Amino acid sequence: MSDWKNTLYYGENLAVMREYLPNESVDLIYLDPPFNSNRNYNVLFREESGEDSQAQITAFEDTWQWDDAARETYYELIKNSPENVSRMIGAFHDFIGRNQMMAYMVMMTIRLIALRRILKSTGSLYLHCDPTASHYLKIVLDTIFGKENFRNEIIWYYSGWVKKMKDRFASKHDIIFFYAKSAKSHFNSYAVKWERDEYLKIQKQKIYIDEDGREYIPTHGVEGRAKRYLDEALVEGRYADDLWQLSPLSSSAKERMGYPTQKPLALLERIIQASSNPGDIVLDPFCGCGTAIVAAQKLDRRWIGIDITHLAVALQKYRLKQSFDLTDKKDYEVIGEPEDLPSAEQLAKDDRYQFQWWALSLIQAKPVGGESDSRKGKKGKDRGIDGIISFIDDSSEKAKKVLVQVKSGHVGAKDIRDLRGTVERENAAIGVFITLNPPSKDMKQEAGDAGYYESEYFNKKYPKIQILTIDELFSGAAVNMPSELTTFKKIPSMNNHSQEKIC
Ligand SMILES: C[S@@+](CC[C@H](N)C(=O)[O-])C[C@H]1O[C@@H](n2cnc3c(N)ncnc32)[C@H](O)[C@@H]1O
Repeated sequence: MSDWKNTLYYGENLAVMREYLPNESVDLIYLDPPFNSNRNYNVLFREESGEDSQAQITAFEDTWQWDDAARETYYELIKNSPENVSRMIGAFHDFIGRNQMMAYMVMMTIRLIALRRILKSTGSLYLHCDPTASHYLKIVLDTIFGKENFRNEIIWYYSGWVKKMKDRFASKHDIIFFYAKSAKSHFNSYAVKWERDEYLKIQKQKIYIDEDGREYIPTHGVEGRAKRYLDEALVEGRYADDLWQLSPLSSSAKERMGYPTQKPLALLERIIQASSNPGDIVLDPFCGCGTAIVAAQKLDRRWIGIDITHLAVALQKYRLKQSFDLTDKKDYEVIGEPEDLPSAEQLAKDDRYQFQWWALSLIQAKPVGGESDSRKGKKGKDRGIDGIISFIDDSSEKAKKVLVQVKSGHVGAKDIRDLRGTVERENAAIGVFITLNPPSKDMKQEAGDAGYYESEYFNKKYPKIQILTIDELFSGAAVNMPSELTTFKKIPSMNNHSQEKIC
């Protein structure tokens, strides 16, 4: 894979791995499979025959169920996997029972076998989970990777406000299992900055201040009495251990994409720096809004992202564009998306939300609404908007908005009137209507009647309501809007060097 081009796959990860990813082809795998542990833990263990639990089980519909697919995977594991894996999964089946937890276990086991196959012998795997299933997952990992290849159980501790709980302590950590494929795996020791208080506590020495006002600790080296400056010592840092205290994403974090399970970039940067080198290939088979691939790109690694939801793929594309000005087809590949009108129609028939998210990604709009781990979408704040493009076209740096609506079914003039109303109500600059079916004369008329958005800075007019068909988008049509003023700061730069370093 020396000529590997960075790739996003829209699809089911087991199928993608089997079809596209050869043995021993990637250097580092990070996976953060969906697991909604906020929901009732006990529901995971309830036998699926119990009628009373049906409502709760429905809540898990989009995740795991002991259904025909789970049963088939279980049979496949029993029949075709290595003897120790077959015995382990059989024992789990007898012990856990046939419930959602068991469905989760077979789903994870079959994927971890595939992931091990594509990992290079020098590679590593990091599995992100929480205490709901971590104890079982460690047994699965020990069985598949070998317990001698276990490296760490990393605790990601996210401090913050702690609520009073009635019957337990607040849960404030995730678990990340780190396994090597073999004793040959690469590892870069990693330094993190000292917290001042922590450093002082460990040094247990008095602090002095020199004539320039700098704090130091006296040291006794070979050259006699010397000074260890505090500011330098803190930056130089200490080797990281397996307790990672990193803040969770705050609701106002600049990197926040609105994807509920999004992980902080700092977490992924640490993993990637510790277990890969520039040019290596990083794979995230449950890629979500793309944190791992963005961190990989920032750190000059190559990357592969897979996700089964187009909401995720649309966000990944949007994020790559915003952070690094990368565009699909030109700078990286996207596999699994509709390539022509019939396949777009098929996607719309199969799942209109996936269609919607895919269509938004064609114009690099940011999807609004929708839930990760769920196939369901929802209109952004019930405003009748599916996506947004923001732009700045004057020196006031005030963000202007293009509101996007996507329709895969029957459309009429009323839809355009509604969009016009929404654009006015939201005080947006432009409204874009993406449709699979061609627009009628009335629709075009209604759009024309909406007039123009005038950009003073560019001294240009842009149609206030624009209709784009999927067919036109396939032929390269784009939203007619002011081009960005690149001199304005808009997104956090991704080229900052990480504050932590490899030693
Ligand atoms: C917990 S989220 C990952 C979040 C990610 N770490 C981030 O920072 O955005 C899990 C993702 O796995 C995806 N997913 C679930 N099952 C999948 C499957 N079988 N194949 C591919 N993706 C899957 C979901 O769509 C969801 O985006």
